[in-house]
Amino acid sequence: MTKIAVIIGSSGLTGSQLLKTLLSSNVYHKVISFVRRSSKISHPKLVQYVVDFDNPQSYENLIEGNDMFCCLGTTIKKAGTEEAFEKVDLHYPIQFAKAAANKGIKQFSIISTLGANPKSGNFYLRTKGKCEDELRKLPFQSISIFRPSLLLGNRKEFRLGEKLAEYAMRILSVFLVGSLRKYRSISIKKVAYAMFQIAQQNTVGYHVYESDEISDMSAQREN
Ligand SMILES: NC(=O)c1ccc[n+]([C@@H]2O[C@H](COP(=O)([O-])OP(=O)(O)OC[C@H]3O[C@@H](n4cnc5c(N)ncnc54)[C@H](OP(=O)(O)O)[C@@H]3O)[C@@H](O)[C@H]2O)c1
Repeated sequence: MTKIAVIIGSSGLTGSQLLKTLLSSNVYHKVISFVRRSSKISHPKLVQYVVDFDNPQSYENLIEGNDMFCCLGTTIKKAGTEEAFEKVDLHYPIQFAKAAANKGIKQFSIISTLGANPKSGNFYLRTKGKCEDELRKLPFQSISIFRPSLLLGNRKEFRLGEKLAEYAMRILSVFLVGSLRKYRSISIKKVAYAMFQIAQQNTVGYHVYESDEISDMSAQREN
C-alpha cells in the first residue's frame, strides 16, 4: 500500500461507490476526501476535509498524494441556474485540478458525460466539453476522462428525467449494438471500477473512455 488517493464528489451516487472501492483496495493507504458538509462515513484510511469549494485557498495546502478522482456534478434543475451548474461541473473541477497539479498529483480522473463537446449547442454537453478541454492543458502525467451514458444506481433523490430515460433504455438496449453500444445505460459500479482500474495502469497522456469501453473493462474482470 503505497499510494494516496484524493477524491471530490465522494458523497454522490458514483463517488460513494468509488470511495468504497478506494478504501477497500490494497493499493491506497490513505484516501483524502474533500466535501462541502461532513458525512457519517468513517474508515481508518479516510481523511475527510470539509472545505469551501468557492475558495481554493481553503483546500490547496491539504492536497497530497498520487491519484485524484473527480465525481462532482449537479443538474441544471438542482443547481437552479446555468451559472450555478457551471460552477459545479466546470469551475470546481478545474480549480481542484489546478491545485492538484501544483501539489504534484500525477493522475487525474474525472467523470464527464457521453456526448461532451465544447462546441455543442446543448449547455450541459458544452459545459462538460469545456471542462475536458481545460483539463487537457494541465501538467498531469495522465488525464483520464470517463464519458458514461445514463448512470444506473440506487439514487436516494428522485430524478424524473433520469427514471424515464432508464425505462426507455431498457426497451431500446437490445437495438443498441455495434457503434451504438455506447448509448446503453451503465451501472455506477462499472464506472467506479473503471476509474480505479485505469489509475493503476500508470498511463501517460490524455485518454477518453467512452461508455462502451468503460463497460468492457468490468466485463474483462468477470471473465
Ligand atoms: N446521472 C447520469 O445519468 C449521468 C450520466 C452521465 C454523466 N454523469 C456525470 O457523472 C458525474 C457523477 O454523477 P452522479 O449522479 O454520481 O453525481 P451525484 O450523485 O449527483 O453527486 C454529485 C456530487 O457532487 C457534489 N456536489 C454537487 N453540488 C455541489 C456543490 N455546489 N458544491 C460541492 N459539491 C457539490 C455532491 O455533494 P453533496 O452530497 O454535498 O451534494 C456529490 O458528492 C457527474 O459529473 C454527472 O454529470 C451523470
